[in-house]
Amino acid sequence: MKKQLLTILMSVVPTVTLAAGGGVHLDDAPIDIADMESVKRGAKHFVDYCLSCHEASYMRYNRIAMDTGMSDGELRENLIFTTNEKGEPTKVGSLMKVAMTDEYAKKAFGTEVPDLTLSARARGADWLYTYLRTFYVDPNRPTGMNNLVFPDVSMPNVLGSLQGIQKAVYKTQTRQGVEVETVDKLELAQPGTMTAEEFDAFVADLVNFMVYLGEPVQNERRSLGVKVLIFLAIFGVLAYLLKKEYWKDVH
Ligand code: HEC
Repeated sequence: MKKQLLTILMSVVPTVTLAAGGGVHLDDAPIDIADMESVKRGAKHFVDYCLSCHEASYMRYNRIAMDTGMSDGELRENLIFTTNEKGEPTKVGSLMKVAMTDEYAKKAFGTEVPDLTLSARARGADWLYTYLRTFYVDPNRPTGMNNLVFPDVSMPNVLGSLQGIQKAVYKTQTRQGVEVETVDKLELAQPGTMTAEEFDAFVADLVNFMVYLGEPVQNERRSLGVKVLIFLAIFGVLAYLLKKEYWKDVH
């Protein structure tokens, strides 16, 4: 039985590591989901740079306002720039939808544009943080750009003006007797409007917001968890004292 288990484990483990790694190193996303100021900045970046294509169709604008402490006025100033079908300004309680249809997206990008509400849960924060920072020039792609963690991606490099344009430095590796060219590292070929540190901080805020999107109640869940544990500890002590009191004359 033990031997069988070991065989199963040995056959599963290598596939698991391959699937997770994909051969590309993921950078640790320096995010703090309890930092609501960062989530607020990230929400603005998301609306400015992502919402034109991607929706977050399970999130309402005023939920973000409530969680990050924004007034309706601030919400209108910072996050809501769309109008509804009748041309009226989007209501503060609306879902974060975009006007682009799937048919249009298919024509423009050759694929549908995924909803990003749950993308942090599906891909993980480190994957997102690395993805958004590793676009590089590749003349063989229709957009002129490729990506380290999402090879042959059809999303344009929308943050290129901030980050600058990166070029790949290739190295030749021998894999199973065949020589293949792989990307060794990325180098900044043309600077953007931000320094590397500023851009990393910008993406961290954006990823922090996307993690929040995936589970808006996670901060409440955590603080409730702590309260439950404190309650259980106090209750435990009381129950113990009560038990001692009841049994005091029996012994
Ligand atoms: C011009 C349209 C456009 C904009 C703007 C845009 N994206 Fe994309 N994005 C796409 C398309 C198209 C895909 C699908 C890529 C594919 O399947 O090859 C995509 C894919 C993605 C994915 C991968 C989803 C998955 O798990 O497969 C993520 C994450 C993502 N985008 C995040 C963002 C973020 C964050 C922003 C804002 C900084 C952004 N995108 C802005 C068009 C866009």
